Amino acid sequence: MLTFHGAYGRAETVEADIHVYFFPAEEEGFAARLKSVAKPAQGMISALRARGDFTGLAEEEEMLFAGEGRFLAVGLGAKNDLSTETLRRAAARAGKRCAKYAARTAAFHLIDEQLLRRMLHLSFEEQVQAIVEGAALGLYRYDAYQEKKKERVKGNLASIALVTSEEGFQGRLKSAIERAAIVAEAVELARNLSNAPANSLNAEALAKEAVERTKKYGVKAVILRKPEIEAHRMGGLLAVNRGSRNEPRFIVLEYNLGRRKAPCIALVGKGVTFDSGGISIKPSANMAEMKMDMSGAAAVIGVMRAAARLKLPLRLVGLIPATDNMPSGSALCPGDIIRMSNGKTVEVEDTDAEGRLILADALVYAQRYKPDGIVDLATLTGAVVVALGFHVTGMMGTGKDLMERLRRSGARTFERVCELPLYEEYEKQIRSEMADIKNLGGRWGGAITAAMFLKHFIGGFPWVHLDIAGTAMLEEEGFYTIKGGSGVGVRLLVDMLSGFGAAES
Ligand code: BES
Ligand code: ZN
Ligand code: ZN
Repeated sequence: MLTFHGAYGRAETVEADIHVYFFPAEEEGFAARLKSVAKPAQGMISALRARGDFTGLAEEEEMLFAGEGRFLAVGLGAKNDLSTETLRRAAARAGKRCAKYAARTAAFHLIDEQLLRRMLHLSFEEQVQAIVEGAALGLYRYDAYQEKKKERVKGNLASIALVTSEEGFQGRLKSAIERAAIVAEAVELARNLSNAPANSLNAEALAKEAVERTKKYGVKAVILRKPEIEAHRMGGLLAVNRGSRNEPRFIVLEYNLGRRKAPCIALVGKGVTFDSGGISIKPSANMAEMKMDMSGAAAVIGVMRAAARLKLPLRLVGLIPATDNMPSGSALCPGDIIRMSNGKTVEVEDTDAEGRLILADALVYAQRYKPDGIVDLATLTGAVVVALGFHVTGMMGTGKDLMERLRRSGARTFERVCELPLYEEYEKQIRSEMADIKNLGGRWGGAITAAMFLKHFIGGFPWVHLDIAGTAMLEEEGFYTIKGGSGVGVRLLVDMLSGFGAAES
């Protein structure tokens, strides 16, 4: 396992197999950075710059062998492009490179606070967080079923030291690293849950994971089994589960509820452990991806764990309706009319629109906490992927303040969100002849009509719906993501919740 720690000094005084330096392309910044590089590498890097071979642009990196040591110079890019995301990507590249060179230990030399403020407009803590996230997530692989390959891809990189040469920064460095490592680890947990195949992660197993991953940090869990779910009349969750041999679970995670005065946020995650479509069965091409249809749930578990470890001063509730969606002789049929836990009736036109059915019951359950806000995360519609692709999460809702906070957190974490409207006119598309509403909104605006459906179950509380169908399950590798589960939502929400109730930043 890769660990991070702080160190104080210069390359000459810190032991590491590889020393990593990040360089901005802009001349003044490059020169300032060069001063802190260990003597033998300094001349080489400045010669590279003079020749135009390494100038600090974003795609550049050079491994140098100087004296006894190895030095990796990594470009950050031109002045206007510098941000936490630049650092995250650079750290991911650096981490992978170190692993490839079979380093066991690496030292990432931090940029001085003054230069950081001037060039990147970032704080010391933001730098540390971005570098830890980039390095950890860039080296992430889902290797639960490939013990051997693990060695080959991840190498032996065991520890990364983040090194400052500034006096008096050790304390800040230590707490920034701890914080960042907690967040990165929660993203990895969400990715692992997301990528786990459905035959190892059914609703029961997901509930076990939710408990085991959060219990020791003081999160209280209540797992509702089928009889209790029936007692709560959760008609949506029961309907979707009808075709399955696996029992459903309704997972309730509570953090800090005793702190009466703290604001309360309810997080709801779609926990469909496999979505075959049910009787309205999906085409078989790419159906395997639907093992990740519980990515919303994975994010909620990750956030609950991180929030508890970070001791965030608010009350949090995590709610996960969990089941698979399978066809069988006992399965939910198109045309069935079901009754949800708030009494509303739903005509099921398509059993593949199952996410909104189980989320409805969870949103109703969330209301008992009288939360200051409800945020749900769900791989809800293919339509949001058509609209926005893989690079931004679709955001809809009634909680204007929450949405503004999420937009800002999205920019900071690069887990960006884009708001789609919930105009009243869309309501017509989910009107039913036979029931209060139907679960299919027709061909157009599918992400929006799905959210319009959910809106029937929020009871007037400020609410935000995040449709992560495009951002949670990726078709190809990115800068610090792999093909598969991205763990999206964890960094976004931890950032948002960290600022909740605190002074605006
Ligand atoms: N889990 C899917 C949505 C999905 C699609 C997630 C692609 C990730 C990638 C959801 O349950 C679903 O099947 N939605 C249907 C809704 C339709 C029947 C109204 C869809 O998007 O096609
Ligand atoms: Zn579906
Ligand atoms: Zn689904």
